[in-house]
Amino acid sequence: MSTDIFMYQEIAQKKFDALKHKRDVVILGIETSCDETAAALVLNGRRLLSNVISSQIELHRKFGGVVPEVASRNHTLAINAVVNEALAKAGIRAQDLDAIAVTYGAGLAGALLVGVSYAKAMAYALGLPLIRVNHIEAHICANFIRASEELGVRSEGRRTCQRAGTPDAEHKNNGLAQTIPSAIPNSSLLTPNSSSLPTSSFLLPTSFPIPHSPSPIPPFLAVAASGGHTGIIEVRDYHDYRLIGGTVDDAIGEAFDKVARLLSLPYPGGPEIDRLSKLGKPVINFYKHSKGVDKDLRLSYSGLKTAVVNYINTAKMKGEVINVPDVCASFTRQAVDLLVDTAVYAAKERGYDTIVLAGGVAANGYLRERLDGLASAGRRPTNEELGIRSEELRIDFGKSITPHSSLLIPHFKIFYPPPVLCTDNAAMVASRAYFSILAGEDLADLHLNAESGLQIKGEKLG
Ligand code: KG4
Ligand code: ZN
Repeated sequence: MSTDIFMYQEIAQKKFDALKHKRDVVILGIETSCDETAAALVLNGRRLLSNVISSQIELHRKFGGVVPEVASRNHTLAINAVVNEALAKAGIRAQDLDAIAVTYGAGLAGALLVGVSYAKAMAYALGLPLIRVNHIEAHICANFIRASEELGVRSEGRRTCQRAGTPDAEHKNNGLAQTIPSAIPNSSLLTPNSSSLPTSSFLLPTSFPIPHSPSPIPPFLAVAASGGHTGIIEVRDYHDYRLIGGTVDDAIGEAFDKVARLLSLPYPGGPEIDRLSKLGKPVINFYKHSKGVDKDLRLSYSGLKTAVVNYINTAKMKGEVINVPDVCASFTRQAVDLLVDTAVYAAKERGYDTIVLAGGVAANGYLRERLDGLASAGRRPTNEELGIRSEELRIDFGKSITPHSSLLIPHFKIFYPPPVLCTDNAAMVASRAYFSILAGEDLADLHLNAESGLQIKGEKLG
């Protein structure tokens, strides 16, 4: 190893240690684990200063899914412009950053490598600490992020769009109109020697309906549901994550995508099934043999997926018309119910009163509805909570207490990120890294490599 590299590591370590005591820490997050090239600047793990996401969805759509080689190549083309735009939008120079954070797993090896190599080069050139981030833990941290507007930081304006919409359309999202940008940003924002975004990319929303609720505070139970992962995770602290359950075969998002493909719906299938399921009724029982909640918190989606395949193939063979919205609604209900019921069981078993959603599938309407239902369902307060002491009850023996509904205490506190922070983004990466800094963990050196099969530490599933 050259002296320069030793020197870099010494400098990076010193700066990393000092950051724990610094009041304001600005981190650049970089994310390239799948088909979004993303960069974001986040202050103190929570304040979003900029959020740039260049999506390759249109490119992969014609193949019906992500083609790894195509993804890597396009990350290489886009990454410089995306990082420069994130810096420009936040109005912060690269040399004024405090640290660089990068997703190093799990994900597509070649795609991850682009982000990891870029982040290593940038950290080395600027003498900045490099922090390695687990993609799934980052998804959970999306729940800690608040928009700059709410926190008095310069707003990014209303340059926003939906994940897979048509240019220049007006969308309604949680009651707030969002406008899709007409084109890739003006390259004058970029440094002179940076490349502009490849024409195949388009930018995803950079702002979003501001969550008004406070952020979740660990300990809590997290449900990570994405295209590559489905896990139930104990978040014991901001930097302490334990996998306690999850899928033993397909991820839930993967099942959404596969069912969508079977129905000839465009990639990615999740948002399409979500949209269509609102037009249908959940009247088809695909999976009559479902065992329901597994006490070891093991989930399985391949059986449900095969049941849907069989249903569709049988209908086709018989020449029957398939009611696509009904198939979507029924599949969604069965897939989501299994996830929610298992999460609720786990939360009750382990004594958690807070459930936090994360990952692309967390954008699903029915999933949010079910969890909102859990939050508002309510339970009777205990006598202690009502302020009734046990001796009063003894004196007034037999008095039955029927609390007014406003006195009902929600079963669970429920959190999920705004849709644009559910799917892959780099703000969540920067947020996760901030908590690593506080814990003095995850400082990477220049040997950092992509780990496509990276897991959250925890109990063995399967
Ligand atoms: O977190 P993510 O962007 O990437 C991974 O880390 O995998 O998740 C992408 C997954 C895809 O499978 C996509 O179909 C699914 O999330 N997804 C949805 C919805 N939006 C995205 N699934 C169901 N309903 C949605 N609204
Ligand atoms: Zn993801």
